[in-house]
Amino acid sequence: MEKKKCKESLVTMTELVMPNDTNPHGNLMGGNLLRWMDIASSISASKHSGGQVVTAAVDSVSFKQPIREGDVVSINAFVTRVFNTSMEIYLEVFTQSFGDSNMHKSNEAFYTFVALDNGGRPKKTIQVEPETDREKQLFESAQRRRELRLILSGRLKPENAKALQSIFLPGWEEDKMP
Ligand SMILES: CC(C)(COP(=O)(O)OP(=O)(O)OC[C@H]1O[C@@H](n2cnc3c(N)ncnc32)[C@H](O)[C@@H]1OP(=O)(O)O)[C@@H](O)C(=O)NCCC(=O)NCCS
Repeated sequence: MEKKKCKESLVTMTELVMPNDTNPHGNLMGGNLLRWMDIASSISASKHSGGQVVTAAVDSVSFKQPIREGDVVSINAFVTRVFNTSMEIYLEVFTQSFGDSNMHKSNEAFYTFVALDNGGRPKKTIQVEPETDREKQLFESAQRRRELRLILSGRLKPENAKALQSIFLPGWEEDKMP
């Protein structure tokens, strides 16, 4: 079966934080960063699936440190795993301040996209072939993250979550007690 490597969907998007991207404190507005992350992950998902895609879910995103006006923001995004019509994108955000030669990781997140056919309906997509240890780790853990987001969105009953059974199966904790 045909597969695509993670590096084939890798996207790096670089932005300069301009005054109209910031809040009254001079920091990048969180919503602007989410928008850039959405754009980077949609390009990545589209590269992988070869067609139209739509955002289905955004996992919790934390903002570790403020990103200031004038900073350079680089977003890396690639597809970690395909399920059927949906795919998970992993994003890392790095920030560099003027005069600082180092980039600092400020955020990471997972977005879920669905591939669409010409009629706008969900379309089956080819699988990812992870190569590096990191990619393999992300591929393996993607099943648990998928179940968690489907439970939280009301699309999966906890008792039907296979990879997360140990967390959600009723009575599991009692079974483990001495
Ligand atoms: C996402 C969308 C295409 C799903 O359509 P649907 O009719 O529910 O289709 P399905 O039930 O077949 O789901 C399609 C896939 O989406 C996944 N999905 C849907 N909602 C999800 C969620 N909240 N989290 C994770 N995956 C989700 C399903 O698990 C399924 O994946 P799979 O085929 O890999 O198993 C549809 O809900 C939609 O168009 N939403 C609006 C998207 C949008 O406008 N995004 C921009 C937001 S501003």
